[in-house]
Amino acid sequence: MSPDRRTVLTSAAAGVAATAAGIAQAGTARAAGRDRPGDAAPRRETFGRLPDGTRIDRWTLARGGTRLGVLSYGGIVQTLEVPDRRGRGANVSLGFATLEPYLSATTYFGALIGRYGNRIAEGRFTLDGRTHQLPRNDGPNSLHGGDAGFDKRVWDITATGPAALTLRRVSPDGEMGYPGALEVTVTYTLTDDGDFRIDYHATTDAPTVVNLTQHTYFNLSGEGSGSVLDHRLELVASRYTPVGATLIPTGELARVAGTPFDFRRRKPVGRDIRTAHPQLRYGQGYDHNFVLDKGITSRPGPAATLDDPASGRSMSVHTTEPGVQFYSGNFLDGTLSGSSDRFYRQSDGLCLETQHFPDSPNRPDFPSTVLRPGGTYRSTTVYSFGAR
Ligand code: BGC
Repeated sequence: MSPDRRTVLTSAAAGVAATAAGIAQAGTARAAGRDRPGDAAPRRETFGRLPDGTRIDRWTLARGGTRLGVLSYGGIVQTLEVPDRRGRGANVSLGFATLEPYLSATTYFGALIGRYGNRIAEGRFTLDGRTHQLPRNDGPNSLHGGDAGFDKRVWDITATGPAALTLRRVSPDGEMGYPGALEVTVTYTLTDDGDFRIDYHATTDAPTVVNLTQHTYFNLSGEGSGSVLDHRLELVASRYTPVGATLIPTGELARVAGTPFDFRRRKPVGRDIRTAHPQLRYGQGYDHNFVLDKGITSRPGPAATLDDPASGRSMSVHTTEPGVQFYSGNFLDGTLSGSSDRFYRQSDGLCLETQHFPDSPNRPDFPSTVLRPGGTYRSTTVYSFGAR
């Protein structure tokens, strides 16, 4: 038997197991009266292999009109299909059709971000009198957990519901310079309403810092269709954290009133993006943490809404987190071709990364990101989709 043939049989056998599990799960869904056209049990297929031979899977979840494709590499949301006003689905998440470009890209398309989403100044922080040095992978600073953060790691994935996957990984003590072994589970669920819900959970065996997020770039007209500058955005934030030239917060919580950062009333993303405001030069557009009016909440509260007049698709974001990084895709430079084989240019997608504030480990006045043994890190964000 050729190795190829063996691979086919192995994945076919796994497919039978997955189908059996699926039947049990679909039965549960039916019993609860939730089955609708478009619902299907989680499905696993081989997406590719790492250079060392490790198999990377793609899992697909489907609920109502929403379909989500997730990779065991980086916990990456590879595709997210939602219907437009005429019921036609499109993939609204930027990404690649194959594994290879994910291995080298530094755009974090669709990825799970950890241990620390966003920047830590000079990649250094002091906790309980001990100073920790992290990789400086973004000029002088550390970004998104370092050069081999959670987005570049292989996760164990199991189907944990009719439309839910749980991703698990233990990040060893000292990985990317962070103290403590961190056990992380992240559950991706498509809810009854076709919402995409993310529940993060982490524990540690030594004091450390944690700030997990999700780095999907959205384009509600469909990835590869052009710019999102006509999408309309509302951010439920009266303040934001201005930054210095390397995008580290100055510490001020500045009012958005009277500035291009005022998204309290829905406006096109591009309306003020060319205003000669010094903050818009640093990130070549929006690349800022907005301080959500609701603060930290035990249940997800309102953060943002986005809608696309062309397709009629809309999305709202609710989170337990106190902040959201609005990144207008400024560094997409036309050199990466995405899932539908079209080059991504500046502002062809935008991110709404729910989080604690950047550089919190060096800012005692910001909400704390410290996690200690015995404590539990919990965070939930829900992306809800609609069409009009
Ligand atoms: C950051 C950007 C960075 C991007 C990487 C965003 O979360 O805020 O500054 O360039 O991630 O793709």
